Amino acid sequence: MSFRRNLRSNRSNCAQNENSENTGGGERCERRLRRRDANGQAIVKIAARKTALKDERHRQLMEQRRKEVCTMLNSPPKRKENNANSKANSNSSSKEPNLRNLTPIFDYEMFKQAQAKAAKLLQEQMKDANNKKDGIKHIEMGKYEMEVWYSSPYPEEYLCLPKLYICEFCLKYFNLRLVLKRHMMKCPYHCPPGDEIYRKGNISIFEIDGEKNKFYCRNLCLVAKLFLDHKTLYYDVEPFKFYIMTEFDSEGFHIIGYFSKEKNSFLNYNVSCILTFPPYQKQGYGRMLIDFSYLLTKLEGKVGSPEKPLSDLGLISYRSYWKNVILEYLCNYKDSEISIKDLSQETAINAYDIVSTLQALGMLKYWKGKHLVLTRKEILDEYRAKLKKKKNIKTIDQSCLHWQPSTSSSNSNR
Ligand code: ACO
Ligand code: ZN
Repeated sequence: MSFRRNLRSNRSNCAQNENSENTGGGERCERRLRRRDANGQAIVKIAARKTALKDERHRQLMEQRRKEVCTMLNSPPKRKENNANSKANSNSSSKEPNLRNLTPIFDYEMFKQAQAKAAKLLQEQMKDANNKKDGIKHIEMGKYEMEVWYSSPYPEEYLCLPKLYICEFCLKYFNLRLVLKRHMMKCPYHCPPGDEIYRKGNISIFEIDGEKNKFYCRNLCLVAKLFLDHKTLYYDVEPFKFYIMTEFDSEGFHIIGYFSKEKNSFLNYNVSCILTFPPYQKQGYGRMLIDFSYLLTKLEGKVGSPEKPLSDLGLISYRSYWKNVILEYLCNYKDSEISIKDLSQETAINAYDIVSTLQALGMLKYWKGKHLVLTRKEILDEYRAKLKKKKNIKTIDQSCLHWQPSTSSSNSNR
């Protein structure tokens, strides 16, 4: 702008000279002016190009900043936590993206405080984990904290934590209570996914297809492995159905235990894995789950057996269940001859398991090429007396089951 003004003043000077000299000097002046004009235009063009370059650079800078902010906002939680952690450690804010103008200052301050708190907690946990170096010790799920029994193949970054926080409804796992709490506020589940096929009182059982609810079933297997030593099903959940027992209250359906079952078992296993979570153990829920598994098998027109090997607790529970069912059958039996095949069909318990239970009770005798079942009065009396003493026995009521066997599994194979 100032340059143009100079140009104009030069022009007027020249005109003045022209007026004063008034001869061939006018032509020279004209040429000089044209030269100056051309020169001036070139300078104007250079200046304009400089401004354009500056604008372009500014635009690129703004674009880069916008991209950085977007990347930061879209980066996965783990990276954010790491960032938060490292920032808390280094106290350096030079690389920290500027969020101040993106959100109200109140939200920004709240976010910073939560970030610092989470980083501190995580740091403490990691320190604990490094001191102990032997992985998950406890889980917190619903209102219970449980000490775990075995290891489970959770992702590596969770394995070094001493405690895992698990959503009791969707079974998603978290490294901090704070994160779990935040999840619980928006978790869409209040019961296991799948169909509620049984309800009596506050006890419900849900049937879940491993193929349709992979995420839930994988998480279930991971948490179950913390209490099961020898089972190795974690990711291959599609060929299984899962039966989840829950206890209902105003907050939702709280998981008690479960069993999984192959959709098509070549060896007629009717239970693959069974678990009662520790806070509910030794209260009769395991027996209920076992009874439920045999009820389904009965309705399928089959006989079944749990997948081997059984754990110590599994063996105790199954032996107790088989014994009680067989003794109950014998207490009500009127005829003189008992067929193990009939007993097996009536109860859906595999004949081998019946024979082994009778042998353990000393009620089976091989005589003159025949197996005889000895109805030992003292054992039956003892059973009746025990039954009388036991109050509030938890049982499965078949009339509360709303379930049809799927056609692929209902072909009789007795
Ligand atoms: N010590 C002694 N007896 C026990 C114990 C124990 N710790 N736990 C259960 N029992 C007995 C009970 O006294 C009861 O016998 P009774 O009816 O003669 O009195 C019987 O076992 C069943 O008890 P419940 O209370 O009905 O069973 P619970 O709810 O405790 O569940 C289960 C049993 C599922 C085995 C549970 O202990 C568990 O989850 N354990 C860890 C996982 C496991 O080992 N699962 C089995 C693996 S094998 C498989 O999956 C096929
Ligand atoms: Zn959840």
